[in-house]
Amino acid sequence: MAREAFFLQFAKEIRPQLKKTVVYLTGGFRTVPGMVKAIEDGVTDGIGIGRPITAEIDFPSKVLSGKVQSALINPFDQDFAISNIASNTQMWQAQQTPYNPNVDINEGIMDMSDEKVEEHFRVAVQKYAEELVALAKSGKPLYGVFNYTPEQLCEKVAA
Ligand SMILES: Cc1cc2nc3c(=O)[nH]c(=O)nc-3n(C[C@H](O)[C@H](O)[C@H](O)COP(=O)(O)O)c2cc1C
Repeated sequence: MAREAFFLQFAKEIRPQLKKTVVYLTGGFRTVPGMVKAIEDGVTDGIGIGRPITAEIDFPSKVLSGKVQSALINPFDQDFAISNIASNTQMWQAQQTPYNPNVDINEGIMDMSDEKVEEHFRVAVQKYAEELVALAKSGKPLYGVFNYTPEQLCEKVAA
């Protein structure tokens, strides 16, 4: 638990020097006990969360209301390159899904804790990476995000 956040030790060391600053520590926080401990230990005033929120937009409110004790499992969490692409994709997926107060706010966002989604995304992102390399080699600009939905890949696999 002590190692959940990447910069816990670093924050612990510099925190005493910061007299007029509110400290927010970001990177690696996934469980509520880990977040609470960091605050109770005086390492940080607040918790910053990146990648878990693109998977579950309402994660902060679920944490604050006690509905969840941890973020969704992300099998790519230890690989920042892939999980960063995945986060951008999830933001794109969220944007593709019109807001409907009667539907879960995370509707349309891939849930990588689902093994099938993980498997599909692993294949698709590999192909996307190869396309990026080819673009870079031909001197063309790289822009945009990976517009991917698990359904699209299923269709491709089935075809
Ligand atoms: C899609 C995406 C975009 C990000 N953009 C920025 C940024 O513009 N500036 C920045 O300092 N960090 C950026 N980050 C890093 C996050 O703020 C955060 O430090 C990092 O994701 C580690 O936290 P996490 O383990 O909770 O994801 C970005 C991360 C992701 C996944």
